[in-house]
Amino acid sequence: MKSRVDTRIRVYADLEELSQAAADFFVKMSREASTSKGGFAVAISGGSTPRRFLSLLAASTRQERISWTSTHIFWADERCVPPGHPDSNYKLAHEALLSKIPIRDENVHRIKGEENSVTAARDYEESLRLFFGTQPLPVFDLIILGAGADGHTASLFPGSAAVHERRRIALPIHAEAPKPDRVTLTLPVLNNASQVFFLVSGREKAAILHEIMEDGNPKHCPAGLVKPVHGHVTWLIDREAASLLSEQTFPR
Ligand code: 6PG
Repeated sequence: MKSRVDTRIRVYADLEELSQAAADFFVKMSREASTSKGGFAVAISGGSTPRRFLSLLAASTRQERISWTSTHIFWADERCVPPGHPDSNYKLAHEALLSKIPIRDENVHRIKGEENSVTAARDYEESLRLFFGTQPLPVFDLIILGAGADGHTASLFPGSAAVHERRRIALPIHAEAPKPDRVTLTLPVLNNASQVFFLVSGREKAAILHEIMEDGNPKHCPAGLVKPVHGHVTWLIDREAASLLSEQTFPR
């Protein structure tokens, strides 16, 4: 593994190594937050990349080191399908992690994908406001995101009006992509997190990473707009996804 601290890009051999590192970071951060402030609020994403990371958290060596009573799990986005549907981001997390750990139901704040996207987004906003209290925007200790080859992140797609939202904290989305109806956290929330991790794997992501990291994100892809105001963004990527990055970005 090689890294460059100032740009916070960490490159790993493959998805397995990346997932192991992400799981180790999660354990460390959850322990620090639980000790220093009594709680750890994290939002996770869907897609295929986080599955291995989530299942590694469930392994006994890691799960025993995490205080699940003080950990609260939220989602960065959800597809509008019931929680048992194969496309549900909740289902992914349930299978890989939640069903295997001693976490209480009240610590799992899922987006109700079984509702229509407008209702689900409103309900989610309400539960976020209840949890985070009077703060104008939620402050997640950690948000874990993925990036699509088109530069989308969470369910913020390039060219969508949702990318410009400044007031709401969760929005209904109708995308062209498969699974068109979705709910997503907005950019102000992503950019208000203490830490954001992107988990990105595979050669098909190399061009967009190059565009975001070395070309100045000319198309203003949502993934490249995630820059926490008071926190940090760390890109955990594998060698294939990093294959078009230059030595300046990632010294080999
Ligand atoms: C979703 C997402 C989405 C995902 C990216 C990357 O539910 O679709 O949260 O933003 O993170 O599309 O997906 P992969 O991990 O499958 O490449």
